[in-house]
Amino acid sequence: MLSALKAKYATIYDRKITTLFDSARVGRFSIEIDGLFFDYSKTNIDSETKDLLLKLTKKAGLYGKRSAMFLGEKINFTEDRAVLHTALRRSSGIVMVDGVDVIPGVLQTRTRMLAFAEKVRSGSLQGQGGAYTDIVNIGIGGSDLGPSMAYRALKPYSNRIKCHYVSNVDGAHITDVLADLNPQTTLVIVASKTFTTNETLTNAQTALQWMGKTVTNPADQFVALSSAKNKTAAFGINADHVFGFEDWVGGRYSVWGPIGLSLAIAIGHDNFNDFLSGAEAMDTHFQIADDSENLPIMLALIGIWHAQVAGYTTRAVLPYEQRLSRLPAYLQQLEMESNGKSVGIDGQDLNVASGPIIWGEPGTNGQHAFYQLIHQGTHIIPCEFMVAQQGHEPDLAHHHQLLQANCLAQSQALMLGRGLDAALAIAAAKGFEGSELDRQARHRVFKGNRPSTTLIYPKLTPYCLGQLVALYEHRVFVEGVILGINSFDQWGVELGKELATALGPVMQGTAPGPDNDPSTLNLVARLTAD
Ligand code: F6P
Repeated sequence: MLSALKAKYATIYDRKITTLFDSARVGRFSIEIDGLFFDYSKTNIDSETKDLLLKLTKKAGLYGKRSAMFLGEKINFTEDRAVLHTALRRSSGIVMVDGVDVIPGVLQTRTRMLAFAEKVRSGSLQGQGGAYTDIVNIGIGGSDLGPSMAYRALKPYSNRIKCHYVSNVDGAHITDVLADLNPQTTLVIVASKTFTTNETLTNAQTALQWMGKTVTNPADQFVALSSAKNKTAAFGINADHVFGFEDWVGGRYSVWGPIGLSLAIAIGHDNFNDFLSGAEAMDTHFQIADDSENLPIMLALIGIWHAQVAGYTTRAVLPYEQRLSRLPAYLQQLEMESNGKSVGIDGQDLNVASGPIIWGEPGTNGQHAFYQLIHQGTHIIPCEFMVAQQGHEPDLAHHHQLLQANCLAQSQALMLGRGLDAALAIAAAKGFEGSELDRQARHRVFKGNRPSTTLIYPKLTPYCLGQLVALYEHRVFVEGVILGINSFDQWGVELGKELATALGPVMQGTAPGPDNDPSTLNLVARLTAD
């Protein structure tokens, strides 16, 4: 499927991106929708490449698969499930799963959950010691990354209640979070789709014990977010504190429903609904916009160009927005758990690379850490810059200008680089001469011609965050369709879980260690030595 693109790439791989610019390029290689502006003119994509990329969607049957997803067909065939996170943000409509319209249930749960959030916010629902001051969300993976990322992102919209997130089974995590909290005014949310996740249940038990020391009925200050209601009851959580969702919501796609409860408590009913509206608007755009003007589709095609055609194995997500500090971690799960697979839907080995390695940090911090490698290392890393037109701190507008200038300077530097002549002039100005001049100058050369994209959004509002997260969800979907994989299962996380369960008793000394793995046996012995 990618052969024409690979053939094209072989002829232009070292072409200078700067030579592609004419007066029309910026307009032709950018998209503007609903306040978002996406520029991909600083990539080595020309009109012919774009046309070849656009052919991939038809070849892969994207339209049929996209409809199948939105209509609730069971496209996650290895788990026999529909994929309907989009239903969680619907404001109306009908979506049938197994002959039943799921939208009334979605709306009912949303109303219940938002009413609960308002009661916590207003103080009409209290802990033993009075109005709640703190929320501790215990969950991991999709039951942590979505709400914790969004809570940080939307801090300016939060009320007085502070949310904390505990995910790691490392006792240090829960210890440090609980250390500063008053159990009598703390609400604990146990977020787990399956309610079987070891880390989450262990942390939940520890939190229950902590609360039980000073709270008479600690379970009353617990809430469960799960699709396994029988298990939440066994844990002792009252049914009216349980918010369920169906198995057609994947963990990493679940922030839009009950898993977003901590966020809803923090930002309130109206802002949470705005967050959903932004995502719903992106869903509509994804379904109706022409491919070349379709943001998720173009983001995906550029991703395919870089990862599967050019062979760049990673991509960096670089938000120039401190409040998006957890976005790279969130996208790591979203993209790598979805598309990190080597077997296609047909059960055969993929004949292309799987989805790339995703990583990143907010700018400008990353600039003073790993950008050295991005600019001068031997790896080429496509960089995805993001920046807001406006910050939330009008009295610190000069900070925001500096932030924006830094963001633009990086993509500029990556593309333009600095040639030997300019580097020689710099070294000469420092007084170097002869062979030392050349040696010094070469260290100051930037090869440039490194691809990047820039996404500008108006301001990090709840609506905008909804748009951005849904944009990435659909990008992952499109990339998965083109790669021919099921983006909605995650069998790759199972083996480690099974082996950890088997090693538990080995660590406790109640079971023998693995007889096929001397290395692990030795490590167990060292870790358990007195
Ligand atoms: O280990 C992977 C995973 O299954 C993720 O897909 C999921 O988000 C996470 O674990 C947590 O699962 P749960 O919400 O069921 O506790």
